[in-house]
Amino acid sequence: MNEYAEEDVGNIISLEHVNVQIPDQSTATLFYVMGLGFTRDPYLNVGLNNMWINVGEQQFHLPTREPQVIDGHVGLVVPDLDALAARLESVAPGLKESKYSFARNSDHIAVTSPWGNRYRCYARQAAFGDMTLGIPYVEFSVPPGVMEAILRFYQVALGAPGAVENDAEGTVGRVKIGRQQSLLFRETEKPIAPYDGHHIAIYVANFSAPYAYLKSRGLISEEMRNHQFRFKEMVDPKDGSAKFVLEHEVRSLRHPMYHRAFVNRDPTQSQREYRRGWDAFTPFQR
Ligand SMILES: [Fe+2]
Repeated sequence: MNEYAEEDVGNIISLEHVNVQIPDQSTATLFYVMGLGFTRDPYLNVGLNNMWINVGEQQFHLPTREPQVIDGHVGLVVPDLDALAARLESVAPGLKESKYSFARNSDHIAVTSPWGNRYRCYARQAAFGDMTLGIPYVEFSVPPGVMEAILRFYQVALGAPGAVENDAEGTVGRVKIGRQQSLLFRETEKPIAPYDGHHIAIYVANFSAPYAYLKSRGLISEEMRNHQFRFKEMVDPKDGSAKFVLEHEVRSLRHPMYHRAFVNRDPTQSQREYRRGWDAFTPFQR
């Protein structure tokens, strides 16, 4: 390894949004805005067909259609776990006819959305760099025997470094994104839910090489348009065999929305204990 290699980042600069359909904005508002404490994007997709939910420098995209559920979970960093627990308690009565649940564990709060998506909410910590509010990782369940090939795919096709890690739950493949984000792939013996069309959006520095690699193998699922393309089949670079399906929206840094500033509010602000000037979420000041 080169001296100062820890200063490097891979070719995937950021994981910007996670897209899962939801059937009902009222319930989604109760869960994502009131419960988790996130902020509805006030500028774009403000109608009833889709809602964008800002989480620091990341987003959830929630089109209004039949629900989609990721087999795995989404990691979240929130500023205050105690305040989160109180909010989750307060929305429970309104969500009791759904799959909603939450449980406090030693280092995180596990939350299940009204439609079954799983989230793990962590406090700010070194593992997530200086993130105080955001989506540090998404973990996907994958069938046994494919994790190494998936890591090879990200390295060869997308220029993203990966590593095999062991943690309390077993072995996981980590694909490194930017300074402090990851995609995690955990092999499980349990049956994997059939892929239902959810997607993630990433920004890549070198755009043409991934495009050329995937194009030459017939893997582009949505052609180039507005500085982005999509693929969903992930193959082993060694032999081209299909290993996993996950739609990626791949954007270049020339995409008009690259590094768009997202509005975030401080969910602890209230009418009763109003603090003038503290409506916005202000990282690092509390
Ligand atoms: Fe998207």
